[in-house]
Amino acid sequence: MNESMLSPIQDRRYLIPFRSQLLPSIFTETLVIGSGVAGLRAALAAAEHGDVILLAKDEFEKTNTAWAQGGIAASLAEDDCAADHARDTFAAGASLCEPSTVETLVAEGPREIERLTEIGMRFDRDATGAFELAREGGHGRRRIVHADGDATGRELSRALLAACRADPRIRLFEKCFALDLVTGGTSERGEDRVLGAMTHHPKYGLQLVWARATVLASGGMGQLWRETTNSRIATGDGVAMAWRAGATVADLEFVQFHPTALYVAGAARSLISEAVRGEGAHLVDRTGRRFMEGRHALGELAPRDIVSRGIVEHLAQTQDPNVFLDARSLGTAGFRARFPGLARLLEGYGIDPGTTPIPVMPAAHYTIGGVWTDLHGATGVPGLYACGEVACNGLHGANRLASNSLLEGLVFGRRAGVAAATADAPPRANMRVVSDIRPSDKGELDLVDVRSSLRSAMWRNVGIVRTGNRLADALDMIHFWCRYSLDKIFDDPAGWEIQNMLSCAALVTTAARARQESRGTHTRADFPTERSDERVRRLWRIAQASALVRAVREPTETHATHAAGRA
Ligand code: SIN
Repeated sequence: MNESMLSPIQDRRYLIPFRSQLLPSIFTETLVIGSGVAGLRAALAAAEHGDVILLAKDEFEKTNTAWAQGGIAASLAEDDCAADHARDTFAAGASLCEPSTVETLVAEGPREIERLTEIGMRFDRDATGAFELAREGGHGRRRIVHADGDATGRELSRALLAACRADPRIRLFEKCFALDLVTGGTSERGEDRVLGAMTHHPKYGLQLVWARATVLASGGMGQLWRETTNSRIATGDGVAMAWRAGATVADLEFVQFHPTALYVAGAARSLISEAVRGEGAHLVDRTGRRFMEGRHALGELAPRDIVSRGIVEHLAQTQDPNVFLDARSLGTAGFRARFPGLARLLEGYGIDPGTTPIPVMPAAHYTIGGVWTDLHGATGVPGLYACGEVACNGLHGANRLASNSLLEGLVFGRRAGVAAATADAPPRANMRVVSDIRPSDKGELDLVDVRSSLRSAMWRNVGIVRTGNRLADALDMIHFWCRYSLDKIFDDPAGWEIQNMLSCAALVTTAARARQESRGTHTRADFPTERSDERVRRLWRIAQASALVRAVREPTETHATHAAGRA
């Protein structure tokens, strides 16, 4: 990996020119960017120590969190334990999980579920009042709490938002796009600090939100791929703006492709929850054959990377466009009772899952990599914290265990919120910050065309199965588009999103080229096996010629045992 591979995204500090003294200013102690589970949880935690502003790029509920179906994994059953949850997380993560991060998640997870109950989240429970627990891929047992059958995210979002709205120390701003983190001043170590963010609101225009500390919780980048289960807002803005501000990013080659997105021509690739397979549905091909049998001991409930690859390989053999999820064993009424939202969705396409197998295909689902943080969300850039999908603390390793992401948002959102709100920082102040970039005079850009060409190229060349040649072709294309796009100055989110998506695409593809092995979600047809010398993570930072390579420690029994003791 050399400098030139990232050079098109090395030299732009801000997306637009500005002079801070000329812009309206708003002040807060802690700024949280993002209204998914991690952002809302961070805001609640930070508000125990001071005032908070939370920004949502769109409406508050337009997040991947609100769309989540399956649920939240936590060891809550009498006969379950944190050590078992840790073991399943390590197994899915293909030897790249950070042991202390996993230990923290499984130890603190159950308490976070309790807190949700305290703030009024309504989980599905059985007649005795105990949590109904679902099973998903990679879990050795039923461990997933859920709400309204398949609408866990909606209920989680409702409960957390209600708690934030009820807290007088939290101000919530909707449809407020964060363009860039503003940096300046000097920290004790002589580095620039993050002083807040430049924002854009359709009614109020550009504003500066100054904060003692900023928590990025802006979600992932699933919109980079043509086939995706993600909400339209998932354009990688957080990773791109943190990169421009000098933060380190890691693990971006690892992108989780969910095995079962609805495959109906012209329809959005809606997620068909893994919990459907957990209730006994099978993957079959056009002839009714269960092609996952024999590929893994857990069959269709193997970790997602294995199932997604199994589907793609089977489709390559059969030349079929899709496979099917056969949920007929649940019956029409049974399916509707357990998965009411999905039943309604499928009904809209004339599919009764009680009588007809559901056409499905894998689609991009979750960004495993992101802004590199410690266990408290600290990014290494003074004043900047990150949590949730935008962040990477090594929890998921090379492949995320199903339903660990909402739990991650809760556990590490709380930690980041506390750390941000209690960190030593100079008093909030507006400073003189100037961005004097000039517009380029290169021709007009067709934003719709660039967006759709980029998404197709990422799906074709940086998708489930990759090769060095195709990654190189993709990088050439991305660099070409970067040259024509990154030096432009746009005045609304459509242009800024494209610039962020291109920067993220360059980072993902560069990281995927660097990893010359197959591990977890990253499959290289030209390097088909895991390599012991690649049991590392690469840390990338702007203006650095190459990645810093960091070895990953082996989990020991002690990690699981500690986790069990503390839960
Ligand atoms: C699902 O319901 O299958 C998605 C859950 C997750 O992504 O963890």
